[in-house]
Amino acid sequence: MERGEVTIIAGDARELRGVGDASVELVVTSPPYPMIARWDALFRELGAVDFDGMHRVLGDAWRACHRVLVPGGLLAINIGDALRSLDGEFRLWPNHARVVLECEGSGFRSLPYLLWKKPTNRPNAFLGSGFLPPNAYVTVDCEFVLLFRKGPLRAFPRGDHRRSASRYTRAERDRWFSQVWGDVRGARQDEDGRRTAAFPPAIPERLVRMFSVLGDTVLDPFAGTGTTLWAASGLGRRALGVERDPVLVERLRERARSWAAPEPRRSAGQVRGARSPPARRGGGS
Ligand SMILES: C[S@@+](CC[C@H](N)C(=O)[O-])C[C@H]1O[C@@H](n2cnc3c(N)ncnc32)[C@H](O)[C@@H]1O
Repeated sequence: MERGEVTIIAGDARELRGVGDASVELVVTSPPYPMIARWDALFRELGAVDFDGMHRVLGDAWRACHRVLVPGGLLAINIGDALRSLDGEFRLWPNHARVVLECEGSGFRSLPYLLWKKPTNRPNAFLGSGFLPPNAYVTVDCEFVLLFRKGPLRAFPRGDHRRSASRYTRAERDRWFSQVWGDVRGARQDEDGRRTAAFPPAIPERLVRMFSVLGDTVLDPFAGTGTTLWAASGLGRRALGVERDPVLVERLRERARSWAAPEPRRSAGQVRGARSPPARRGGGS
């Protein structure tokens, strides 16, 4: 399959400057997670120091996504809840609930969501002590993939060839459209010794195939290392990424050039396949 064009914009997800109104069919993204310590400095730069403020920042990005999506366009947001003590009190910060409220408030309609059950190296770890009720906590090992639509169902002409060429198989449908995804690995990786929050390529690959057709434009407003862009362009969609960190923007541009370059000739016995996804530096939380 021919790779789709990749465009990287150095900019702010809250504005999506340079992205036209009603020009995108699908948004697939994983924003910085509120109340996860590693993102505190970034939210502070964006003017937010508490849970409400952080979600107001993200809310501006969801409003911008609503502007750029076509009617019937879909928004897929990978987000996890946070666990953190504040003023001596340990609690859950339900990021997924606040994202739903912000998106509904921006005009999106909620659709059934997915739960990505991340594999854990410590299956028996739990928070609390001993075996005495009632003060232990349930382990948080799922992240959400929240799904929203702008306006009515997307309409296609009868027998639309781009749509029929984007068909998935029955086995793929049965696996992908079940609510809990327990078969996607999310191993942490490092890049230049810095951890990032890339999701595994299987997440955007599935979402792109489930919710867009060949030739569509797929946007990631928090592009990071470019996992969504790599997946979308490899699946014959136009990929559009917005990223605020200038170092990541440069790396993204370099990577996008390497994806576009002709593949080197293979010696006998080498397996034909897609080029490697962007290096990953860590999980979403
Ligand atoms: C969780 S990471 C995204 C990881 C990405 N899914 C990947 O696979 O690499 C969030 C990214 O959003 C970027 N970011 C944070 N605030 C932003 C903003 N206002 N506009 C655009 N990008 C932003 C951060 O620099 C970071 O790269």
